[in-house]
Amino acid sequence: MILEVEDLHTYIGEFHILQGVSLKVPSGSVTVILGRNGAGKTTTLRSIMGLIPHRKGKITFEGRSIERLPAHRVAQLGVGYVPEDQGIFTCLTVEENLRLAMRNGTSGKLLEKVLDLFPDLRVALRKKAGNLSGGQRQMLALGRALVTGSRLLLVDEPSKGLAPVMVERVAGAISQIKKEITIVLVEQNFRLAKAVGDYYSIIDDGRTVVSGKMGELVENHELLERYLGVKQAAR
Ligand SMILES: Nc1ncnc2c1ncn2[C@@H]1O[C@H](COP(=O)(O)OP(=O)(O)OP(=O)(O)O)[C@@H](O)[C@H]1O
Ligand SMILES: [Mg+2]
Repeated sequence: MILEVEDLHTYIGEFHILQGVSLKVPSGSVTVILGRNGAGKTTTLRSIMGLIPHRKGKITFEGRSIERLPAHRVAQLGVGYVPEDQGIFTCLTVEENLRLAMRNGTSGKLLEKVLDLFPDLRVALRKKAGNLSGGQRQMLALGRALVTGSRLLLVDEPSKGLAPVMVERVAGAISQIKKEITIVLVEQNFRLAKAVGDYYSIIDDGRTVVSGKMGELVENHELLERYLGVKQAAR
């Protein structure tokens, strides 16, 4: 397991938001965290990343405890994070965005590899990131995380606000990069989740309620309707 989270509890102010989140992420997989609005998906990623302190629970990355480490240390150890707002600099060019994300000592080869994965970015290298389409921005955000050389990537709802055709492109991009990096993906778009996911974990009311192989969830209509409100038509 590249990442293990055990019985995570996080408070925001006085609110007990996460009340027992557990997650096991095998290396080389895409694990999708599913759950309704407000279930605690983003809070889970932020807690793992060290952006909000958790009050209880264990977090292990590559066999080493990353609890209580500040976010920049977690990032240095090899965990990338693509927040919902993507965290890109709209007034800088695509190339500047990528170069800023590169660590000291990151080789130009890694940048070339990322540009091979996302030809859209190569074409737009000198464009301002603010002029990219929603789908291209999402690719830039993923590209920025990849050029750091991270081995685990946490991605929050990359499909949000994108047209269906762009969601397909993002699904394609994630399928491409999963050969390079282990991914934990928060996603409410079940089409995208099932297209790219190997494993799933459902969070409800701040708790992990069920986890397993994506192939099994697709068949489990009761679970889909109970926790995700996925109706026949959306499958
Ligand atoms: N700053 C905050 N202050 C108080 N409550 C918060 C704060 N941030 C989040 N919450 C609450 O924590 C719960 C979990 O929020 P979180 O953002 O993790 O959910 P989510 O599963 O990512 O939802 P969404 O699908 O809408 O992105 C929600 O009930 C939310 O209202
Ligand atoms: Mg969220």
